[in-house]
Amino acid sequence: MAVEQTLVIVKPDGVQRGLVGEIVGRLERRGLRIAALGLRVIDPELAGTHYAEHRERPFYAGLVEYIGSGPSVVMVLEGPAAIEATRSAVGATNPVKAAPGTIRGDLGLMTGRNLIHASDSLESAEREIGLFFGSGVALSYERAIDPWIVE
Ligand code: RTP
Ligand code: MG
Repeated sequence: MAVEQTLVIVKPDGVQRGLVGEIVGRLERRGLRIAALGLRVIDPELAGTHYAEHRERPFYAGLVEYIGSGPSVVMVLEGPAAIEATRSAVGATNPVKAAPGTIRGDLGLMTGRNLIHASDSLESAEREIGLFFGSGVALSYERAIDPWIVE
């Protein structure tokens, strides 16, 4: 299984609700490594580039306002099949439809307050990591525990 990096954002509702540790902790316990992490307010220009695929959708203006409504925790996570592993841990876009045991399914109720973003493909991950961190910021490293997580 290929080692991948994925971009994850704990959105402003997650930060305001004090769920950063809960959310990052779930992904860390899954076995994913933190490769980069920072707190930032996502301005409308960055939000627009990040969510460019949704520019024509009716929820776009609300989405840009939501994602910039306070600080977010933006991170790169790394591990085997990290993109799919993270998406499955995050759950469906609408938290009411998200399976119990997922981050959105356990912690949220509204699509417009769904706590977390995760890259949905290798192409998106590379684009989003470049957008938020540039190249050379995310670190690849080994932890002593890794052989107990990755065979
Ligand atoms: P994300 O990009 O944030 O990881 O979420 P996602 O892939 O599960 O969902 P996506 O379709 O990419 O939508 C991006 C974000 O836009 C908001 N949204 N609102 N009101 C609506 O119908 C609606 N649909 C999407 C959500 O915050 C969603 O996460
Ligand atoms: Mg998406």
